[in-house]
Amino acid sequence: MNFQIAVIPGDGIGPEIINEAIKVLETIGKKYHHHFHFQKLLAGGCAIDKVGTCLPDETLDLCKKSDSILLGAVGGPKWDTLPGEQRPEKALLRLRKELNLFANLRPALLFPQLKDACPLKKEIVGNGIDICVVRELTGGIYFGEKGRKSSDIMGEIAYDVESYSVSEIKRIAKIAFEIAGKRKKKVTSVDKANVLESSKLWRSVVEEIANDYPDITLHHMYIDNASMQLIRDPKQFDVIVTSNMFGDILSDEASIITGSIGMLPSASLGNSTLGMYEPIHGSAPDIAGKNKANPIATILSAAMMLRYSFNLNKEAQAIEDAVTKVLKQGYRTPDLIHTEMQLVSTKEMGEQIIKNI
Ligand code: NAI
Ligand code: MG
Repeated sequence: MNFQIAVIPGDGIGPEIINEAIKVLETIGKKYHHHFHFQKLLAGGCAIDKVGTCLPDETLDLCKKSDSILLGAVGGPKWDTLPGEQRPEKALLRLRKELNLFANLRPALLFPQLKDACPLKKEIVGNGIDICVVRELTGGIYFGEKGRKSSDIMGEIAYDVESYSVSEIKRIAKIAFEIAGKRKKKVTSVDKANVLESSKLWRSVVEEIANDYPDITLHHMYIDNASMQLIRDPKQFDVIVTSNMFGDILSDEASIITGSIGMLPSASLGNSTLGMYEPIHGSAPDIAGKNKANPIATILSAAMMLRYSFNLNKEAQAIEDAVTKVLKQGYRTPDLIHTEMQLVSTKEMGEQIIKNI
């Protein structure tokens, strides 16, 4: 099969980690007879330097026409003094909005080999943790009405409105159930339905969607309890689906159990198969150009692309298995290093993963 992939290396460690992901995808292409066509595009700080804007029209256009987007990271101290609208990070927000990528998937997977790097007790971690947080990305309180007013009695007031429409809840719930179908068939919907009206609607719409997925178990949990359960017994979770703000907070909580920020991939999905795949970390200017960055989060993002945009499940699994093997063999980039482990560079880590595919 043929696939057109828009590649945005971006800034800092972006180009280094993206190169390794491309090599991994090329290896998968050869092994499984797919043709991945990569088109490198400008966005972020490097685009500001070259053409004066963080998201050139050409980049946006070609992203819309591609089968999926693979992104490194954007931003860095060089562009920190620019006003908000002109900053490199604006490229990401615009891409997500323009492509209507309303579902953000963050799989918090603790590889058993990295148990030492996880802050939880060994008996809680067991053989590893594997949770996928599905966060609504373009609605809720972050996009609701906001403002300030003053009242004679209370003085100055600021407000942010949490609102969700039935259609917004339906589409994110469907994505969560579809993903759970490819995993352990369990969805936990997290809300605050004991207090919030928007959560009451959330809960009833999720219930309704669940009827279309009889093989998937649905649980509801309040956000306060979920935050506690994630630490007390993370193994009870498979897919967590929640609103924009609850998902923002919960996914950060879940990410700490994977050992390093260099391990966490992500996918942003919409109604079509076109998605954007990127590591959750930034451009890491402190280690840029030093061949030290961990490329695994980006390589695992490429695996998510195969699974969610291209429906190439065994190919995605081949990448994930190769990462597991390399970790078993003891190879570690500096962010993961422990005693008696084999310290490797960005490039060597990529090469080891390729060897294991
Ligand atoms: P960061 O994620 O770039 O770095 C935080 C720390 O983690 C640093 O010590 C860095 O060396 C380390 N780190 C990050 N990725 C790593 C990897 N793959 N391997 C090993 N170590 C890694 O966050 P920071 O420093 O807050 O932001 C740096 C720049 O990146 C800023 O301009 C920020 O706006 C931008 N940024 C971009 C994002 C994106 O493109 N999606 C997301 C977050 C930040
Ligand atoms: Mg956050």
